[in-house]
Amino acid sequence: GNYTITVLPGDGIGREVTDQAVRVLQAIASRYGHSFTFHHALVGGAAIEAEGDAISDATMEQCQRSDAILFGAVGVPTKPGTNQQIKPERSLFRLRKGLEFFANLRPVRPFKALLNASSIKPEVLQGTDLIVVRELTGGLYYGHMEPGIPGKPSEIRETDKGYEAIDTLLYTEGEIERIVRTAFDIARGRQKKVTSVDKANVLSSSVLWRRVVDRVAADYPDIATEHLLVDACAMHLIRRPSNFDVIVTENLFGDILTDEASMLASSMGMLPSASLGTRKTEHGIFGLYEPIHGSAPDIAGQDKANPIAAILSAAMLLRHSLSLPREAEAVEAAVEACINEGYRTEDIQEEGKKKVGTQEMGQRIAAA
Ligand code: NAI
Ligand code: MG
Repeated sequence: GNYTITVLPGDGIGREVTDQAVRVLQAIASRYGHSFTFHHALVGGAAIEAEGDAISDATMEQCQRSDAILFGAVGVPTKPGTNQQIKPERSLFRLRKGLEFFANLRPVRPFKALLNASSIKPEVLQGTDLIVVRELTGGLYYGHMEPGIPGKPSEIRETDKGYEAIDTLLYTEGEIERIVRTAFDIARGRQKKVTSVDKANVLSSSVLWRRVVDRVAADYPDIATEHLLVDACAMHLIRRPSNFDVIVTENLFGDILTDEASMLASSMGMLPSASLGTRKTEHGIFGLYEPIHGSAPDIAGQDKANPIAAILSAAMLLRHSLSLPREAEAVEAAVEACINEGYRTEDIQEEGKKKVGTQEMGQRIAAA
């Protein structure tokens, strides 16, 4: 069939890893006889320099017209002393909020051949197969975006006691319910267990969160539900990762816990994600796909970045937005084959394995 994909490589290694994900999608197109039309556009620091905003209206419209969005990463080191009114991250907030991608799915399934590459013991990792369902359009990350609304000051301000800053953590019952239902629906197709993560001993938003989870859980008697406080969850994630199935949590907690969970898969460069809403296109669910990592300025431009997180994100794009599960599995199998053959980027390098750069890893996966 014919499919349209908007490609937003962004900054730093975002560009390097997205090139490899596109290469793999092109290999899929020619192998399976599909026509993928790629529309490249600027986001992040690159767009601020060239177009005056972190994402232009024209790019937003291009996204709306596509079947899916493939995103790299945004963020460039800020020069000290420069007042940066527009931040590269604004592009992501605008995409997520503007296109209503409230559900961020982050699967964590360490490859067998990488169990020894992780800093966590293989016997602890054994059997780990979990997915974090992170709320993406609410909470603290949006608590500074509506200047003029009481309780929502937009910037740091000076007072007679020195500077002060307030971020607002707001969740409505409806926002919680839709993400929690998404998690329960996902659990039905998996091991039928949902772990809801909050900080209900301290935060009002978490008390409401827990109340909604208990109410929704009653509609899913076939699913086992547990509540964990976020600090305890951080500990259990590396103590007993194989006990988790579906983890559902709010925006900030999900962000932090998945950086931690990436180490189960041995590197930040291994974890893909899908951001979905409720809109459907002719082919599937409209979505945005990106690795969980950022622009990694420390390794940018050196052909060192691991492209696997971006490539596995492309596999999720094939599955959810294009409804091409066979093609998605082919990509995942190609990634695993290259790892089994011993190819490793620096972040997952082990004694006696074949070290490759970003481009060679992408080429090998595309060939496989
Ligand atoms: P980061 O995720 O870019 O990097 C953290 C560490 O992991 C670095 O040491 C980096 O070298 C390593 N790493 C990340 N991805 C890797 C890969 N594919 N292969 C090998 N190593 C990898 O987070 P950091 O350094 O805190 O943030 C850098 C910039 O990225 C900031 O401007 C931040 O705002 C932005 N950022 C953007 C995100 C996005 O676009 N979705 C997400 C997270 C951060
Ligand atoms: Mg993060």
